[in-house]
Amino acid sequence: MAEAARLATPQPVNIAEKLASFSDHWNPRVVGRYNGNEVRIAKVDGEFTWHSHAGTDELFMVISGDFGIEFRDGLVKLAPGEMLVVPKGTEHRPVANGECQILMLDREGEPNTGASPSHYTRERLETI
Ligand code: NI
Repeated sequence: MAEAARLATPQPVNIAEKLASFSDHWNPRVVGRYNGNEVRIAKVDGEFTWHSHAGTDELFMVISGDFGIEFRDGLVKLAPGEMLVVPKGTEHRPVANGECQILMLDREGEPNTGASPSHYTRERLETI
């Protein structure tokens, strides 16, 4: 039998249920992995820190809330259901006006604060 035949059948991940399982802000949880990348979800509120990711693009998708990403040349607002890819090496600062729920794609192990450690840095992300 082929290797793949012994693997368990993939099961759906309910993002709303995962989001309901935690309440803290700026502490992404990993809900899936593929091709060396992580699918992360987070609740966020307020302004994050400026940072960039030298080795990986970063995708943001807004699930709920009034969310945007500030770049050095201006703020880009994202409505729920909209997504944006921050190219690697690009300075950015996520901004949430009130609590927002977001989904992110990042390379596995990439620090949430990129190359700019701060009190927002989470050394190990919990998988839920
Ligand atoms: Ni980032």
